[in-house]
Amino acid sequence: MSKARRQVQENLKHVDLVMELVDARLPLSSRNPMLDKIIGTKPRLVIINKKDLGNELETQKWVHYFEKQGILAVKINAKEQQTVKKLTKAAKEVLADKLERAESRGIQNKAIRTMIIGIPNVGKSTLMNRLAGRKSAITGNKPGVTKGQQWLKTNEALEILDTPGILWPKFEDQTIGLKLALTGAIKDELIPKDEITIFGLDFFSKHFPNELQSRYKLGDAELSMPAVDLIVLLTKKYGFRDDYDRFYDLFIKDVRDGKLGTYTLDIVGELEDEDEIHGDD
Ligand code: G4P
Repeated sequence: MSKARRQVQENLKHVDLVMELVDARLPLSSRNPMLDKIIGTKPRLVIINKKDLGNELETQKWVHYFEKQGILAVKINAKEQQTVKKLTKAAKEVLADKLERAESRGIQNKAIRTMIIGIPNVGKSTLMNRLAGRKSAITGNKPGVTKGQQWLKTNEALEILDTPGILWPKFEDQTIGLKLALTGAIKDELIPKDEITIFGLDFFSKHFPNELQSRYKLGDAELSMPAVDLIVLLTKKYGFRDDYDRFYDLFIKDVRDGKLGTYTLDIVGELEDEDEIHGDD
């Protein structure tokens, strides 16, 4: 078992709720496929972060997708102030029964202890900073916390473990790897830029053709060209002669910077075998 996984399992014992952070542009591909197994029956809240970058309609479909699985999902922008209120409310909702039982035993306003788990770059630090705030009181030295770890107090209702759980995405799956690479979730060296660009052009021409057309001023005939031909055309159009690398860099940066608008690379209902993504490994 990896060290990261062991650490998450150890920390799990001390929390009431797991906050699983995913990227709105990749609500499935940015999940660690082992997480279900790792957290078992521990209550969970899925947080769809970077909602400002994801396509709004698709993000809403993902909220329903998780709901259908009995998991509450909320969409947020970790940089926004209102995130704190939103997540406090959602955490209370997930733990409503437990909190009610505690209250019936005379325990009022028990703080919810939670930890944030997610793949690298999904926004864990940003969210922790947002939740903990500048004036966060550190309430360490409580029983059961791994030495050196602290609880960060968000408000009266929420306490977060100061160390987020970092798990890896499953990028031995080629399409997932391409999606992660296009958003910048994994290191650029891991997948060749031409493959990322071809994947991206194909994806946008299928799902977000208007954005592709308007960004690169493409006519209808150009839009339906195979991606490799489009690359040749646009490389010339930009005056890069036959320096295709320059076009790959430009396109990938455009996508990441939102120059092609908001987008979601995981499309609900289109993932041929969702079980495969979450299956055993
Ligand atoms: P991590 O701890 O999970 O590894 O992720 P981290 O918080 O470092 O966030 C990774 C990048 O994602 C950061 O950008 C951060 O600002 C950005 N980010 C986090 N949440 C959101 C969000 O809701 N919306 C948007 N648009 N961006 C978000 P960066 O460019 O690496 O750093 P920075 O220069 O922005 O600080």
